[in-house]
Amino acid sequence: MAEFRLPVFGHGGDYNPDQWLDRPDILLQDIEYMKEAGITLVSVGIFAWAALEPEEGKYNFGWLKDVLDRLHAAGISALLATPSGARPVWMSLKYPEVLRMHNDVRNHHGNRHNHCLTSPVYREFVTKINTKLAEEFGNHPAVIGWHVSNEYGGDCQCELCQGAFRKWLKNRYGTIENVNKAWWTGFWAKTFTDFDQIRSPEKIGETSLTGMTLDWKRFVSDQTLDFFRCEIAPIRRITPSLPVSINTMTLFDGLDYSSFKDDVDFFGYDVYPKWGKKSDYRIAVDTAFTYDQVRGFNQKPWSLMECTPSQVNWHEICRMKHPGLHQLASMQAVGHGADTVMMFQWRKGRGGFEKFHGAVVGHDSTNKTRVFKEVKEVGEMLKNIRSVVTSGVKSKAAVIFDQQNRWALEVAQGPRMDKDYCAVVREHYEALYSQGFNVDVIDEDKPFDAYSVIAAPYLYMVRKGVAEKLEKFVENGGVLILGFMSGHVDESDLCYLGGAPGPLKKLSGVWAEEFDALYEDQKNSLTYKGKEYECGFICDILNLEGAKQVCAYGSDYYKDTPVVTVNEFGKGKTYYIAARTEQAFLNEFYKDICADAGLEPPVQNLPEGVLVTEREKDGKKYLFVMNFSREERRVCVPEGRNLLTGKETGGCIVLGDNGVAVIEVYA
Ligand code: GLA
Ligand code: ZN
Repeated sequence: MAEFRLPVFGHGGDYNPDQWLDRPDILLQDIEYMKEAGITLVSVGIFAWAALEPEEGKYNFGWLKDVLDRLHAAGISALLATPSGARPVWMSLKYPEVLRMHNDVRNHHGNRHNHCLTSPVYREFVTKINTKLAEEFGNHPAVIGWHVSNEYGGDCQCELCQGAFRKWLKNRYGTIENVNKAWWTGFWAKTFTDFDQIRSPEKIGETSLTGMTLDWKRFVSDQTLDFFRCEIAPIRRITPSLPVSINTMTLFDGLDYSSFKDDVDFFGYDVYPKWGKKSDYRIAVDTAFTYDQVRGFNQKPWSLMECTPSQVNWHEICRMKHPGLHQLASMQAVGHGADTVMMFQWRKGRGGFEKFHGAVVGHDSTNKTRVFKEVKEVGEMLKNIRSVVTSGVKSKAAVIFDQQNRWALEVAQGPRMDKDYCAVVREHYEALYSQGFNVDVIDEDKPFDAYSVIAAPYLYMVRKGVAEKLEKFVENGGVLILGFMSGHVDESDLCYLGGAPGPLKKLSGVWAEEFDALYEDQKNSLTYKGKEYECGFICDILNLEGAKQVCAYGSDYYKDTPVVTVNEFGKGKTYYIAARTEQAFLNEFYKDICADAGLEPPVQNLPEGVLVTEREKDGKKYLFVMNFSREERRVCVPEGRNLLTGKETGGCIVLGDNGVAVIEVYA
């Protein structure tokens, strides 16, 4: 592994000079504008395979060398991309096995990501070009790391992949009997007698074995990781000191990114929030949730690899970022642990699918636009806060967001079709984050000991060892919050016998005997500290088995039965919230839980619309105070110095529309 430690914040984005090779004037202008905008880092060559290898075995690297030389001369670094996100057409035509298949039909050449990750031919081509790139540019002074492929994702159902799936199953289960057991194949006469009888789930075949569907998702993720390992083998060999990254996507369902953590040096993250659709504050909370998730993959600083400086071209409605929002949103990413602010893209292409996607430089080719000026301002801000780079984010609170749990929930039929896992976890996250706490978003496999409070709502799948880990956490004084639909299945998606929440029964002190699902317009209620709140969606009906009731349901046949409970366990407590409640309840409830657990936010009583987050390094704390309210806000902050203005703080500061302060807190 190599270290990703930048001396200054990375500021830049996807740079596609390969689209402008017939316009040397533009390539020169790029460099001038980059210098002006405070660009320090760009990703080059992401989709450049056709320019790099126009014919099989004929490489054309001269243009890339010129680009890297020019960048270096301007003091700008580069993440060199491997081009495997899209193939040249000659390859698809000559070697059709590189193309994906679904439902027995092979795709034609087209789009991107349309390749079979199992195909030995594709792997060989990737190995060859990556080897050449590493040999040619591994020592180039501009190159400081690798941007591997682009947003891996998707599956293929060709015979090569079917074979790899069977091998993967043999490896996981050993015998076909074990597969039958794990997938409950006695159901609908599905018993297999040989691994060779198994195919992937597919529209024209099997879709009813949830355990199989879950394993296919795992396989696709593992196969992508295997492909990634193949991609980086020559890179690691030839350029061992260059850090390697992949760019991940917001709440992407297709991969378990955490499983890449021992193979990447840093995670990149591409984020395109729908700023302007809901209140900026709501979007900022959504976004923070995903930032903390990316940081949670390996618990290291990460790279904001893509965001738009202005608008995207693929939301149903593409709103511009309001003046000042790009600066604020960039600081928010940094506050949550990003060491780069990179954008898609540097310059708008003239044609094709993405010609209307926002970029730093538009079709007007000028540096006089609002967007350009705001990007330049981010460049200034990043310079001013450069002491923050490489600092960490420490949290006493965590929320469990587990990708395998998400998959299992999504493939389950019942008790409702819209499972809304991401949204439910995010609600618990908000209850912590909106109070001003740093929150880690982690999966079931991460250590729990560093936290005082862990929210683990909707923990439907409890894999081996997890209940014991949670028990230890609570026994030692931790506070755990569980919720409806927890502890139903094991890692094979087989229901636990003995009642829900299965292995979490002892810890929660409840038995969830029934779960009721409610239509959108149907609500139950609960009363907490004299105030009534709505609840619904899924309502577990509980029996107390050691826990105490905190609140009861207000209506229906389970009126007066417990909806919120607490169970003392060792030195800690486990709460169980049996229904999905409105946000106001969670906010209130978590406030009390956190105070009870002795947690103190860095800023008390945050005004509405204001969020904070904290990074720290060498005993120094950097507090990011961000106003997403669209109105002026007064915030009382600790004594320190606002790195953005150089002014001392202490007492109260006033933040205007999209205002932000980055305070180096005095010890
Ligand atoms: C993704 C891709 C980019 C580009 C942007 C547009 O994140 O990685 O290549 O297509 O979306 O928003
Ligand atoms: Zn395939």
